[in-house]
Amino acid sequence: MTTMLQTMLGLELPIIQAPMAGVQGHALAAAVSNAGGLGSLPCAMLDAAALKAELTALQAQTTRPFNVNFFCHAPPAPDAAREARWRAALAPYYAEHGIDAASIPAGPGRRPFDAEAAELLAAVRPAVVSFHFGLPSPELLAQVRAWGARVWSSATTVDEARWLEARGVDAVVAQGVEAGGHRGMFLADDIATQVGTFALLPQVVRAVKLPVIAAGGIADADGVAAALALGAAAAQVGTAYLLCPEATTSTLHRAALQSDAARTTALTNLYTGRPARGIVTRLMRELGPMSDVAPAFPLATAAIAPLRAAAEKRGSGDFSPLWAGQNVTGCKAVPAGELTRELVARIPG
Ligand SMILES: Cc1cc2nc3c(=O)[nH]c(=O)nc-3n(C[C@H](O)[C@H](O)[C@H](O)COP(=O)(O)O)c2cc1C
Repeated sequence: MTTMLQTMLGLELPIIQAPMAGVQGHALAAAVSNAGGLGSLPCAMLDAAALKAELTALQAQTTRPFNVNFFCHAPPAPDAAREARWRAALAPYYAEHGIDAASIPAGPGRRPFDAEAAELLAAVRPAVVSFHFGLPSPELLAQVRAWGARVWSSATTVDEARWLEARGVDAVVAQGVEAGGHRGMFLADDIATQVGTFALLPQVVRAVKLPVIAAGGIADADGVAAALALGAAAAQVGTAYLLCPEATTSTLHRAALQSDAARTTALTNLYTGRPARGIVTRLMRELGPMSDVAPAFPLATAAIAPLRAAAEKRGSGDFSPLWAGQNVTGCKAVPAGELTRELVARIPG
């Protein structure tokens, strides 16, 4: 069985390796693309020089199609009062770790898609450019479309899928609440009403005329086959790739994924300001997992960074974002190409 999306992109397998900022770069993307899936390069945490270097390395390692992924949030106005409340909430932890709070710079932790990035991409012409948190401005989008890239974005509700279709995207990633990392939600901010993958997927398939890619909790060949049976054009798999040697997942994160703790994940806004799913940590237990005190995305990150660094130095993930979805059973320390081929083993011929 070959889906329309595969034909459109010349993809051998209906597997999209989920872009995962902070835990992978070109090596994982190239391995998956070379295995016949669609590898993804997450760009949200790359400055222009790093983006250029990653794109060059990715092009050197694959001639197959790949996806580059960006966040497209509107940067918030800094709010000194909120930042002060956030630092006050973290003060006991600073004291515990001997950190001088006054020395911590404020500043963004994630950069939205911008004209500079669009220009860099024009020279590379990736087959797919995907966005999280809606879409960038029509002008930026026109720049991306100018070289013929397919544009994708995440939808966590039927309304978001319809909104994206109305703005001309080429495919929608239906992201269920099980998914690891940030929720792509952009029309709603209530996490209590977020929908599971296999409830969301068939509703989105019915609501839009576009190819729909299923994401969230899909960790093995049965999950992929189930997603395709429910109308998905492909499965987007993230967490299952985190132990692959090509991922840059930290030793600490890898150990957590392989421990019993990985069965307990929650959505938290403490690490960045937006809800994202990760393994429950001490910070999440003691201050959240959701908190009104955390500054707006992505401003929460700066104040956590020194705590994370200090704790990690002594081998503790108490203050680390250990992003993971609700299903870690597919995580395997095998080459990503091998995992990609395993994921398609149960698709009916
Ligand atoms: C560690 C991690 C980082 C992520 N970073 C991004 C990102 O940069 N951009 C994005 O669109 N999605 C990101 N996601 C979400 C994935 O695109 C996808 O929705 C999710 O991995 C699917 O669920 P699963 O993890 O259960 O497979 C991330 C997920 C994880 C686990």
